Amino acid sequence: EQIRKGNFEHFMQKKIHEQPDSLTMTMRGRLIRGREQKAKGILLGGLKDHLKTIRRSRRILFIGCGTSYNAALAARPVVEELSGIPVTMEIASDLLDRQGPIYREDTAIFVSQSGETADTLQALEYAKSNGALCVGITNTVGSAIARGTHCGIHLNAGCEIGVASTKAYTSQIAVIVMLALALGDDSLSTQQRRNAIMDDLYNLPSKVRDVLKLDKHMKELAALLMDEQSLLVFGRGYNYATALECALKVKQVSLMHAEGIVAGDMKHGPLALVDETIPIIVIATRDACLNKQQSVRQQLKARKGRLIVMCTEGDAEFMCPDRRCRIIEVPKVQDCLQPIINIVPLQLLAYHLTVFRGFNVDQPRNLAKSVTTQ
Ligand code: G6P
Repeated sequence: EQIRKGNFEHFMQKKIHEQPDSLTMTMRGRLIRGREQKAKGILLGGLKDHLKTIRRSRRILFIGCGTSYNAALAARPVVEELSGIPVTMEIASDLLDRQGPIYREDTAIFVSQSGETADTLQALEYAKSNGALCVGITNTVGSAIARGTHCGIHLNAGCEIGVASTKAYTSQIAVIVMLALALGDDSLSTQQRRNAIMDDLYNLPSKVRDVLKLDKHMKELAALLMDEQSLLVFGRGYNYATALECALKVKQVSLMHAEGIVAGDMKHGPLALVDETIPIIVIATRDACLNKQQSVRQQLKARKGRLIVMCTEGDAEFMCPDRRCRIIEVPKVQDCLQPIINIVPLQLLAYHLTVFRGFNVDQPRNLAKSVTTQ
C-alpha cells in the first residue's frame, strides 16, 4: 500500500496526507500513557544504554542535509531547553569542508531520512574518528548511517517515494522532541512542561488531520501565486526552520525561487526586497515571539508588502486588522510541536504550485531522493 498512489495523483500528495498515520507510527510504543490517559514518559529503546552518556555530554551536534537539517533546526530549541546542553547545527558538507572540531565529550546526532546520504555518512566517519558518541535518526532500518552509529532512533514513518521529503520531516521533529523529553526526564522543574508536550504529542495526529483540511485553501493560494518569480518566507524561533523548509520545498518541486528568512535579521538586508509585488509569507503563530512577529508584519505592511500570514486559529483579526492580507489559520499546539502543524499547509502549497506550474512533482529536475555521491 505504501508504494501505491491509491486515490492520489502523486506520491508527494499521498505522503503529505499520510502524516497523521506516519506520526502515529513514529510515536507508537514510545509515548507512554499512565492512568486516565495522562502523559507518563518516553521510551526510546534504541538509546536506553546511552541516555546517561548523552546527558553528560558537553555539547550536542545535529548533522544533516536538506530537509533533515531543517527538522533538527526546528527541534533544537526544545533540546536546549529540556537538556540544558548547548546544541550546535551542522550542514554535513560544511562540517567536512571546515573539518570543524569535534571531541570525545560531544554527542553527534546524524539525521537522515535515507540513512545513505554521502555527506552525512562521511561526517559520521569523521565524528567517530574524533571519539564522539554517534547517534543516528534515520527512516531506513539497516541503512549505512543506522549501521555506522553507536545507537539511534528509527522514524518508522514508512517509505517515502517522491524526491521531496514530507512525512519524514514531521516524524524527524517528533523524534527529536521525544529525545529532548527523554533527556530531561530526571528534572522535576520541567515536569509540567514535559507533561504538556507529551499530551500534545498524543493529540498531534488528529491536529495534523485538521490542518490537512486546508488543502482547498492552499490550492487557491497556489493558483494566485503560480506565476510569481519569487517568494519570501519569514519565521523566527521555533518557526525559523518552518520558513527554511517551506522555501526549500517550493524551490525543490515548484522550481520557483523562494527564500526562508529569520525574521530577526530582516532589517539587515531582506527588507530591501520588499515592495508591492513580491509575495511574503509571515509565520506568526502564538508563541513567545508573537509580538515580535506582529511588529515584523507591521513593518512589511508599511512597505506595501503582499502578505500571507500564518496565524493561530482565532487570531486572524489581530494579525490582519485591515483584512488586507491572506490568512492561513492553524490549530495551536505546544510551541515546540507547532513546526509540525505549520509545515503541513506549506507542503500543500508547494505541491499545488508545482502541479499548476506543470512540473514533475515526484522527480524534480536535477535532484535525487538520496544523494550518495559527494
Ligand atoms: C536529497 C533530497 C532531499 C533530502 C536530502 C537529505 O538532497 O533531495 O529531499 O532532504 O537529500 O536526505 P536524507 O536522506 O539524508 O534525509
